[in-house]
Amino acid sequence: MLDRFYRYIAKPLLFRLDAEAVHHMILTILSHTPSMAPWPDPPVLNLNLWGIEFSNPIGLAAGMDKDAVAVHAWHSLGFGFAEVGTVTPRPQPGNPGRRIFRLPERGALINRLGFPGEGMEAVAERLERLRHRRLPIRLAINLGPNKDTAPEAVAEDYAALMNRLGGHADFVVINVSSPNTPGLRNWQSPERMREIYAAIKGGQTSTRAPILIKLAPDLQRVELLKICDTAIELGFDGIVATNTTLRRKDLGVASDYEGGLSGRPLLELARGIIVDIYRHTAGRIPIVGVGGIASAEDAYGHIRAGASMVELYTGLIYEGPGLVASIKVGLTGLLRRDGFGSISEAIGAAARA
Ligand SMILES: Cc1cc2nc3c(=O)[nH]c(=O)nc-3n(C[C@H](O)[C@H](O)[C@H](O)COP(=O)(O)O)c2cc1C
Repeated sequence: MLDRFYRYIAKPLLFRLDAEAVHHMILTILSHTPSMAPWPDPPVLNLNLWGIEFSNPIGLAAGMDKDAVAVHAWHSLGFGFAEVGTVTPRPQPGNPGRRIFRLPERGALINRLGFPGEGMEAVAERLERLRHRRLPIRLAINLGPNKDTAPEAVAEDYAALMNRLGGHADFVVINVSSPNTPGLRNWQSPERMREIYAAIKGGQTSTRAPILIKLAPDLQRVELLKICDTAIELGFDGIVATNTTLRRKDLGVASDYEGGLSGRPLLELARGIIVDIYRHTAGRIPIVGVGGIASAEDAYGHIRAGASMVELYTGLIYEGPGLVASIKVGLTGLLRRDGFGSISEAIGAAARA
């Protein structure tokens, strides 16, 4: 019902308007919508990671709710967790001009937002108010440096963010992989990860939330695996794979808009990276799989490739608000079909085969 309304009525109307304008309109509506408890999740979808109970493994990917304005709505839609952010230390406007482009024939988006946001103080205050009323959903916070932060001060930006926001999160994600902040992806190297980790640990005063690192799908394989080794060695708690890609033609995308590509063309690329990480690390570090998920089969594929949990963003734009509920129903059926008694049993099943 909701799916049909979205596909045949809402989406055709919304897709005539500018993508970022629609984004703000929907966020405003969601932030004012009273929260509703979703159907309880079946036990087969429950999982425990880092000692935290998740009622289901489907999360909202970073970028949709940068300033944590609609946390209750993500719960109402049925997500098991929401990753808000990227949050930067200071407020910033992001890149100028049109910044989100739809590629409807490919089920994809290209964005070059560049972390527009209210900054960590505003987000922390909002989360403090929310915590008073008890958060209904597991919350991850994605952290990134300001665009005008000098390269030698980037690690300090992460440390400041961790200090201010770490206590509000069930887990935090160090974003070193957005393509729209110049130089950010250079932080995806063992040496620089050490720098970030030392800065975060050195200044940490708040309670210890698990720390994950979010990687790009455009790394050379050797480099990717070295980074994963370093993540384990340093004590990172997980890897988010992946962010948007700069690749185009080899993914069958003709568009030459600048920015990060997300959605369906990213599915197989992200899945290949999840398998690589899972096999290389022998499942020793949890992976949050993200990229191109728009159905239960897609989510299940990422989990069987090695992801402990998954996230989505672009799929929601193309499939609408009923997507999370339908993924959960489909995933429950797929797990039962294959004889798995829980999500945990299915993690990495295809990578081990
Ligand atoms: C409009 C837009 C904005 C995004 N902003 C962020 C961001 O601020 N931080 C981040 O780590 N990832 C960001 N992402 C990347 C998503 O979190 C995700 O990694 C990527 O889109 C792949 O997932 P998908 O194919 O389900 O969209 C953004 C993606 C989109 C489409």
